Amino acid sequence: MNPCFVSTQKPWIASVYVTTVRLNSADPVSVDTDALIVGFRPGQDGPVPAVGADSLEAAFGGKLAPSLSAVAFSGKAGELVKLPTFGAVTAPLLVAVGLGDTPGPEDLRRAAGAAARSLAGTSRAALALPADTAEEAEAVALGALLGAYAFARYRTNGEQKPPVSELTVLSGQPGGVAERASVLAESVSLVRDLVNTPPSDLWPARFAELAEEVGGKAGLSVEVLDDRQLKEGGYGGLIGVGQGSANAPRLVRLAYRHPEAGKTLAFVGKGITFDSGGLSLKPSAAMDLMKSDMGGAAAVLGAVIGIARLGLPVNAVGYLCLAENLPSGTAQRPSDIIHSYSGKTVEVLDTDAEGRLVLMDGIARAAEDSPDLIVDVATLTGAQIVALGWRTSGVMSNDDAIRELVVEAAGAAGEGAWGMPLPEELRKGLDSPIADIANLHPERWGGMLTAAIFLREFVPDGVRWAHIDMAGPAFNKGEPYGYTPKGGTGAITRTLIGLAERHASI
Ligand code: BES
Ligand code: MN
Ligand code: ZN
Repeated sequence: MNPCFVSTQKPWIASVYVTTVRLNSADPVSVDTDALIVGFRPGQDGPVPAVGADSLEAAFGGKLAPSLSAVAFSGKAGELVKLPTFGAVTAPLLVAVGLGDTPGPEDLRRAAGAAARSLAGTSRAALALPADTAEEAEAVALGALLGAYAFARYRTNGEQKPPVSELTVLSGQPGGVAERASVLAESVSLVRDLVNTPPSDLWPARFAELAEEVGGKAGLSVEVLDDRQLKEGGYGGLIGVGQGSANAPRLVRLAYRHPEAGKTLAFVGKGITFDSGGLSLKPSAAMDLMKSDMGGAAAVLGAVIGIARLGLPVNAVGYLCLAENLPSGTAQRPSDIIHSYSGKTVEVLDTDAEGRLVLMDGIARAAEDSPDLIVDVATLTGAQIVALGWRTSGVMSNDDAIRELVVEAAGAAGEGAWGMPLPEELRKGLDSPIADIANLHPERWGGMLTAAIFLREFVPDGVRWAHIDMAGPAFNKGEPYGYTPKGGTGAITRTLIGLAERHASI
């Protein structure tokens, strides 16, 4: 650790704010709260409350739907209007959110999230959205918790309003639903916090320390390899990428075991705490976004902790491939050849194609755990954003059924993902005249796919593997939407937890 770069702040521990959620079967009209959030569907004569319609309309003397129509609120998904209640119900403020005609879980999460987000500065809120089933109640609770996220660690002027602190979901479901939603939201919030934390406070060794701390609390066994151990162990990719920085690389292994587990999943996350490109330096415009280049490792950490806290009957191993990619007199050079952990040699033609170099070591190491499936998660290529935009991750695999399973798990979590191919003709572009493989394809077209084809070379024969490129989805540069804030999104964390649920043995 280089003291000149170490901030004087105490090690980062957790979010500044804590929001809690509980379930309660109270009546929306009389629930004791500061703000009543009501979900509406579009109807013939204006918006219709999705729950408690009769009692709400009666409490407002039949004026609720006409008043909302008057401010152009129809109940369509994405709409949100705040109204004072003038004492018609116990809550002084009503937040009307549109759900659309047939809201599914993601519609509920988004509506609850947008409403909770709009209530920053308010202490308590109750949610009257469809919550009869456990799935619905969890969606409302989770969406509200995710929408109530705020990252305030670096605000000193007190101008940022704290998020709503106490949420009540009006539902007759048992309290376990709220607990599950809290575990999921805490995992996602951890990932968002890590992604939002600047590289001045999050370098590989610090990330590893945090993983030990939060992983240990969740009952995981955590092992950290430092740079000396990485060198001795033959992890040429992690060493090569990290050697330009005063902040040395780390490989973290997190393990959760369940006594009745039938399957073992291995997750491998790209953890570049800052990606300047190295000697193949990136242009300075938007280089700041590269603080999010550890989003894959953060998602893996959040997911394994979530899986452990939920006690899923599956074994899960997570690898965090942590390095900082900087140029310096000790940095790796274009044309250097790396000896990877797998034994294969790699010619580094572009030091900015560094993610695949740390992942190749992580994947080869993960294979030693004999997992039933390896999933790597990475902010790997700008080409992912060109192909699929900011909100849709690319999913590639050496097994069609696994690719579909990952896409399905992402869809169920409301995390956009789309299956992409591994066209065989792209492999030869990665041939190197002197090493086993090169890290760059001479053509940029299909760059997301060639990166995946590179990674596939490090998956031993017979091992099922999927790769998720979330370069765009890890970070929201735009305005908040639904339950997604500006900045770190926590994307893919819940997809990985969902994959573990799909591999659970009982
Ligand atoms: N971390 C970047 C990819 C990235 C770009 C993530 C934009 C998030 C937003 C990655 O390490 C990178 O630099 N990839 C290069 C690969 C190229 C040199 C083959 C890219 O996509 O340009
Ligand atoms: Mn790069
Ligand atoms: Zn990168």
